[in-house]
Amino acid sequence: MVRASREGLEVMTTDLMRRIRDRAARLCVIGQGYVGLPLAIAFARGGFVVTGLDTDPDRLGALNAGRSHSPDVEDETLATVLREGLYEASADFSVLDQSDVAVICVPTPLRKTKDPDISFVLAAAEEVAARFRPGHLVILESTTYPGTTQELLVPLFEGRGARPGVDVFLAFSPERIDPANPTYSVTDIPKVVGGVTPRCAALAAFLYRQIIAQVIVVSNAKVAELVKLYENVFRNVNIALANEFALMCRRLGVSTREVIDAAATKPFGFLPFYPGPGIGGHCIGVDPAYLAWKMRLDGYEARCIRLADEINRSMPGHVVELVGEALNRRRRCLNGATILALGVAYKRGVGDTRESPALEVLGRLIECGAGVAYADPYVPEITLGGHAFKAVEPTDERLAGADCVLILTDHAEFDYHRIVAVAALVVDTRGATYEIQAPAGRVVTL
Ligand SMILES: NC(=O)c1ccc[n+]([C@@H]2O[C@H](COP(=O)([O-])OP(=O)(O)OC[C@H]3O[C@@H](n4cnc5c(N)ncnc54)[C@H](O)[C@@H]3O)[C@@H](O)[C@H]2O)c1
Repeated sequence: MVRASREGLEVMTTDLMRRIRDRAARLCVIGQGYVGLPLAIAFARGGFVVTGLDTDPDRLGALNAGRSHSPDVEDETLATVLREGLYEASADFSVLDQSDVAVICVPTPLRKTKDPDISFVLAAAEEVAARFRPGHLVILESTTYPGTTQELLVPLFEGRGARPGVDVFLAFSPERIDPANPTYSVTDIPKVVGGVTPRCAALAAFLYRQIIAQVIVVSNAKVAELVKLYENVFRNVNIALANEFALMCRRLGVSTREVIDAAATKPFGFLPFYPGPGIGGHCIGVDPAYLAWKMRLDGYEARCIRLADEINRSMPGHVVELVGEALNRRRRCLNGATILALGVAYKRGVGDTRESPALEVLGRLIECGAGVAYADPYVPEITLGGHAFKAVEPTDERLAGADCVLILTDHAEFDYHRIVAVAALVVDTRGATYEIQAPAGRVVTL
């Protein structure tokens, strides 16, 4: 392998910058999910030739046929970049041989033991390292524990004889996208970058500045990894606080939402978070566990994270209790009740059911003997306790016929005025009906 001399390093750096600036640099984005696809398309729209690498043949087939699975990429936009030859989805990792930049956006879930499952990152990074060529810029975007870039990626490349910052440029840049957010897309959200060396950071920042207005360079990759974790721990802990506050307000006979909304009128020092049926999605409930795991290895117990997790994970059970009590007041019991659940995605506007607390709520209701049906415009089918359920339309007949209509995800597509008018009993875990007048006892909120 050709090693870069100091002079050669300067030439290699300038050359990569020129190729990026002139859109001659070839990009590979590994993982074409909620994060990788919008990023790949943003680069393609910025004039780069991008290959979206993935291991899922169904996903690849759909993408190359112009069908996007992401709420942040319109089919039309995908079709345009495909037609212009700026984007292609592929499972052929040999394209890395010809690439200048590889960005890794693969999943970072938890194992059953709640330890980080870093196997997807390792597999993707190994593909890149195996095809490394001098001057390659490699950026990890998957959310992960502090130290991953330095402790996992660096040795992988060094094992191939590539010195980070000299022969290969390694950086971490957290993805902060909020799928289906109508205000902030991948290119509007300031990008944080930390490199294994200052040169690595400078090159990664130069790349992102081509499509993102604000790029913030931090001291190193570990700082960048921690930025993302702190953001998501912040959300997780504040949601837990709102959830616990809801439990207290219920005992005090006070509307949680009225308290939070009034508190939110304070123009400084307060950020409103609202209660819900629990934590879902691939990030907020998962990422704090990555940090807690890493700290445990160091003999430190992350107490805020542990307590927030405990409170948030207790919420599905609390929702089931709420439904049971509401039915009881109407002389019904959970066993044998018909429940129509509205929304099973982990949040509004998406079809993602990963870690969705709605699934746990429904599973528990079934265990209690309730008959369950669900409506969700984004999720055509779910599996509960080994049984497949198909989504139903929330018709007036179904709304009126259910013993309880349970709002678990506040999708904008649901007509909440109609729901409150037609249903006999509504349990609302999302505050979707908060401003709607209803006869006493008809709507129960968290
Ligand atoms: N979803 C979000 O809102 C969000 C936001 C910010 C950060 N993140 C982080 O971004 C990362 C990716 O999340 P996501 O939601 O896009 O996941 P996803 O499951 O939607 O997509 C991941 C994709 O990677 C593919 N993949 C798995 N292993 C692969 C491999 N070895 N090579 C190539 N492709 C492979 C999968 O087939 C899938 O298409 C995670 O670390 C996540 O925590 C997610």
